[in-house]
Amino acid sequence: MRVLVTGGAGYIGSHTLLELMAQGHAVCVLDNYANATPEVLNRVRALSNGTVADYTGDVRDAALLDQVMTTFRPDAVVHFAGLKAVGESAKKPLAYYDVNVCGTVALLQAMDRAGCRRIIFSSSATVYGEPVYMPYDEDHPTNPTSVYGQTKLAAERILTDWAGANPDAAAVILRYFNPVGAHHSARIGEDPQDIPGNLMPFIAQVAVGKRDALTIYGDDYDTPDGTGLRDYIHVVDLARAHVAALNHAACNTGARAFNIGTGQSHSVRDMVAAFSRACGGDIPVRQAGRRTGDIAAMQADASRAKRELGWTATHSLDDMTASTWAWQSANPDGYGTPD
Ligand code: WQD
Repeated sequence: MRVLVTGGAGYIGSHTLLELMAQGHAVCVLDNYANATPEVLNRVRALSNGTVADYTGDVRDAALLDQVMTTFRPDAVVHFAGLKAVGESAKKPLAYYDVNVCGTVALLQAMDRAGCRRIIFSSSATVYGEPVYMPYDEDHPTNPTSVYGQTKLAAERILTDWAGANPDAAAVILRYFNPVGAHHSARIGEDPQDIPGNLMPFIAQVAVGKRDALTIYGDDYDTPDGTGLRDYIHVVDLARAHVAALNHAACNTGARAFNIGTGQSHSVRDMVAAFSRACGGDIPVRQAGRRTGDIAAMQADASRAKRELGWTATHSLDDMTASTWAWQSANPDGYGTPD
């Protein structure tokens, strides 16, 4: 298929490009580089030895979208472009609604004008909010606790209504748990622009000496070691879920949501220990109180994705930490490090 990937230069987008190309799909990227660099695409081209068409611009730019649709003629769109910082979303709610919700509407309108009928959407397990039961399945009530989560849920509903109004349309919604890790080549990976807010990139920066210690938020949760439990998923497994979703969208219509996780969970202390094994050194930690808005545990019931997409995670926790360490140690300044 010909696949337009919005936000294709981002962390998950770039890994997905490689998996799409490995399966013979032709790809085109639309990215405004708000949280990425064009160097990513150079590396993707070198790794794949393939062609990556690219357009620089915003997903809310209707004229640009029309140009991309007319020139590239996608059969499907994988929509990653968006803002994703939970804390920032509370301070800039309108920016988050504008980019994440209006951006999705603008994209669907351009798809309608071009007759493109398939979309894979980058959503988040954060749409579930405070657990009513655990693990979360896709029928769990949705009640996001952040503006970011609200924008993802709003976009999901728009996609569902769009698919409902167009009998030949397919919208596959992927609800990611906690993506971590990097490509086995160590040439693409996660490159946070600011102080990392997420656990794994923060640990990686401590390991490489850029930060002195990890602050562990909370040790009094009702979990085996008192620290938070999350369902960490290797980014290459996550990327492959998009290929499986595309195959699903090729022969199904309607909107359908899928949890993309491993179905297992690990504590903050598990992650620190696993990373120490990977890098062969200690990760200094300091204990602090709970982070506002955090919940004790998040875990996917990923059985629907296995049943209906034929997708299942294959990478272990040690694959996640080893690949993160390989990427971070080879690229201490992320994409600013000469390749
Ligand atoms: C994981 C665990 C923290 C940092 C967020 C978003 C979610 C998704 C993924 C979007 C928790 C603990 C963390 C640190 C710590 N993003 N922690 N010290 O909060 O599960 O999910 O990222 O698309 O929407 O909410 O991930 O990596 O921030 O935290 O102790 O410096 O690590 O308390 O238990 P989270 P995280």
